[in-house]
Amino acid sequence: MRTLVQRTKDPIRFYKNIFQKYGGIVFFQLGPYKFAMLNDADAIHEVLHKNAGLYTKSTGYERFKLILGNGLLISEGEVWKKQRRLMSWAFASKHIERVFPVMVSETRDMLKSWEGKTEVDLALEMNSVTLQVISQSLFGKRHQGGDSLLVRRSLQNILEYLQTTRHLWIQLLIAPLPIRDKRRAALKIEASLPLRDTRTFFSSIEKLDQLVEEMITEGRAQKGSENFLDTMISATDSEDHTQMDNQQLRDEVISVLVAGHETTANALTWTWHLLLAHPEVLGKVTEEVGWVVSGEAPKFDELSALTYTKAVLEESMRLYPPFWRISRKNAEDATVGGYRIPANTTVIAAIFSIQRNPTYWERPEEFLPERFLEKGRSENRFAYIPFGAGPRACVGSQFAMVEALTILSICIKAYRFERTSPTFPELFTSLTLQPKGGCKVTLKKRGA
Ligand code: HEM
Repeated sequence: MRTLVQRTKDPIRFYKNIFQKYGGIVFFQLGPYKFAMLNDADAIHEVLHKNAGLYTKSTGYERFKLILGNGLLISEGEVWKKQRRLMSWAFASKHIERVFPVMVSETRDMLKSWEGKTEVDLALEMNSVTLQVISQSLFGKRHQGGDSLLVRRSLQNILEYLQTTRHLWIQLLIAPLPIRDKRRAALKIEASLPLRDTRTFFSSIEKLDQLVEEMITEGRAQKGSENFLDTMISATDSEDHTQMDNQQLRDEVISVLVAGHETTANALTWTWHLLLAHPEVLGKVTEEVGWVVSGEAPKFDELSALTYTKAVLEESMRLYPPFWRISRKNAEDATVGGYRIPANTTVIAAIFSIQRNPTYWERPEEFLPERFLEKGRSENRFAYIPFGAGPRACVGSQFAMVEALTILSICIKAYRFERTSPTFPELFTSLTLQPKGGCKVTLKKRGA
């Protein structure tokens, strides 16, 4: 029980202690649940890449099925394979370039809303701008005012609910009972609890579903290609030449909304914290942005010249990976790093730990963006996996990098920022890794 409390309360410290004490591959059991935790790049390579076929997403993702259905993030087998082909096509560079103007205009709108203000919370701002970017990219002009608010409210409710740990306690309570699939049973119990947040969660899913269905119907009727949803509607499988049906489109749209917003917002918020705590790095970024970006906002082809700024983002995601761990499950017995892992083990790639592991990184706790300009970058590519690795690596990584570079460069070109608190924030670990207390700053318009 003490282990579970520590694991839930401060998982990062729990992981650190365990790896320090037992090494890079650790197996343990909590009641009937078996876990293998990996802080070893070769072992992570085996699980996520080399032997990826032996693993599925862990049962921890079951809860997400309620909202994501059979979307790319959690589907398996042939359904996943086909969807991955279709979605990789939709996320190709040329399609990202087409929605790039949305990233610029949404950032500009955020800047307009700052007029007359002297203080903002960049964590909140990054959260709302990334949500606007992803929903406007998906739905385009058809998605305005009230709809936009509905997506925001519903997603907020859904994400908040998914971050609660109630299901873990229910699992523990029913652990001694003779139930075969305890995780699924825990989920059912959770869904039937007469609690307000449970009701809000399910009604938010319903509202979001309705809106997405309307968008799909309109998108099909108009046969245009003005936004990401249109791109997804027209995506045709290179093997069997079929397209997605409405249910699959719904699942993918919601998956992209969930996967593509908070992650990018957190990456940006940590980057702001690091930049404001390291004025010399902020100075270099400001200089680079000044050189490269000719107007108020970057052009798409200017982004590739923002090499130092990109290194800053990469280093920020090394120290503070938005997904701080990912997990898998093996249906059959498997071996990892020469150790036998019994069937049905939750195998966790500890992203936060591996990206600070001194075996792979020099001065691992320091913020040194230069290491991503070649020297000092880890030799082992499985020691740097903010976007995951192997066949299930993030399909939106390019989208995220383009978006983050665009938002950062527009903000830095227009404003000077200073942090209001001299102390670096503590970690808040839920589904994603967030800074406690947001990121409050004072802001001053450049040239004013
Ligand atoms: C900084 C931002 C982001 C980070 C750190 C991130 C991280 C990740 C990671 C670690 C995975 C793998 C999960 C696993 O293996 O269990 C993943 C998968 C995924 N991401 Fe991202 N992501 C980001 C942004 C985005 C964006 C912007 C989108 C879409 C617009 C997106 C869509 C997806 C999808 C659909 C998957 C599932 C891919 C599959 O299983 O085939 N992500 N992401």
